[in-house]
Amino acid sequence: MIPHPIQVFAFKQLQFGMKVAAKILDFRQPELFTGPGSSLQLCDHIVGTGVTKLLLVSDEFLLKIGMLAPMIDRLESGGVAVSLYTGVLPDPAIEQVEAGLAVLKENGCAAVLAVGGGSSIDAAKMIAARARNPHSVALMGGLMRVIIPPLPLYAVPTTAGTGSEATIGAVISDPANSRKFVVMDPKLVPQAAALDGALMTGLPAPGTIATGMDALTHSIEAYLSVNATEKTDAEALAATKLIMENLPEVVKNGNNLEARQRMAIAAYKAGVAITTAGIGWVHSISHNFGALYHLPHGYLNAIILPRVLDLYRPVHQARLADLARVSGIEGTDEAALADAFIAKVRALNVEFGIPTQLDKLQVSDIPQIVERAMDETHWNYAVPVYMDKAETESMVRDMLPV
Ligand SMILES: NC(=O)c1ccc[n+]([C@@H]2O[C@H](COP(=O)([O-])OP(=O)(O)OC[C@H]3O[C@@H](n4cnc5c(N)ncnc54)[C@H](O)[C@@H]3O)[C@@H](O)[C@H]2O)c1
Ligand SMILES: [Fe+2]
Repeated sequence: MIPHPIQVFAFKQLQFGMKVAAKILDFRQPELFTGPGSSLQLCDHIVGTGVTKLLLVSDEFLLKIGMLAPMIDRLESGGVAVSLYTGVLPDPAIEQVEAGLAVLKENGCAAVLAVGGGSSIDAAKMIAARARNPHSVALMGGLMRVIIPPLPLYAVPTTAGTGSEATIGAVISDPANSRKFVVMDPKLVPQAAALDGALMTGLPAPGTIATGMDALTHSIEAYLSVNATEKTDAEALAATKLIMENLPEVVKNGNNLEARQRMAIAAYKAGVAITTAGIGWVHSISHNFGALYHLPHGYLNAIILPRVLDLYRPVHQARLADLARVSGIEGTDEAALADAFIAKVRALNVEFGIPTQLDKLQVSDIPQIVERAMDETHWNYAVPVYMDKAETESMVRDMLPV
């Protein structure tokens, strides 16, 4: 449903309240373990909490390649009985949350550990939330609708992308309605997380590119958000710098552990930034492409991102110039720096083989994509420019295959 102008006015007031809140509130961050091997330190930390039964949420591939075994051994030798749910698929669906919840209940688990990409972490967040809340996953969609605090939740990201280990968000698919929806609640921030670059060296280049471009989109959308604060600015600029310096390297040389570790830190920082400042148009359009076409989230973001930067160019010249400076672009002319930053994002897409057009996009899907992207943005995100229906449609049409 596209909001009525009065509703948009009301949301702008709410957004002003959120902006004030963002400056006053300091969202909780997870206790952090960092560096190669830190996933085992996190396991020791979990043992130290005294929990005796834990659900480990992940996917079949990571189980098969043996990534989970050292963590399971460490937990079990510390006296924690580990139950496994490894049914998570990319863009996790409500059904997988319910299946994981059934395993949790069957085994009486009192804590949840996610090991994997954003899909596993988001599914684990909602399993931990459903374990304590009687209402459905769909009813928790939107802002602050997780009423009772979830079970203790821990996260080990194995991609440097979503930053879900730091965020208040979980993105869940609802295949019956061909949609993805966002649950946003500070109660979803994990208790503790490990940023262990050693788990990321085996991620192939296409996955590295997609997840890295997701992290870059987070840092940029946070820096250009109306709700940006001094703290989110610092995190977003630091993340942008780290990604620009390290993403091309990890794409070329996946075994570079130092660069992988820096990407893990960057994705986390970008996650901290979006937790307060929020995401924007790139994500609302990307979520709707993802729900219909099932392509990697970060790949879709990368196709959309330059177009959204063009949209913001007239209102955000100075901030785009800041992003250019931390990306290593030299110069003193602000307008030229802003243009050069957008050109650099386009050049990165070319370097990574990301197309400008979305081959799978169908003309007949555009009305639904436009309506849902507008609904998501107008109700949830503090973007600097609100597009109307015609403008949103024009941006989406621009991505049709030629
Ligand atoms: N909660 C948030 O704040 C937030 C933010 C952005 C995106 N998301 C959501 O996160 C999901 C995407 O997560 P993602 O991009 O991390 O991908 P993913 O979790 O879907 O994983 C993609 C694939 O990569 C594989 N993989 C993961 N780590 C690996 C490793 N180290 N080595 C080899 N293979 C590995 C997985 O097995 C999987 O097949 C989307 O649903 C997206 O909407 C959430
Ligand atoms: Fe994202």
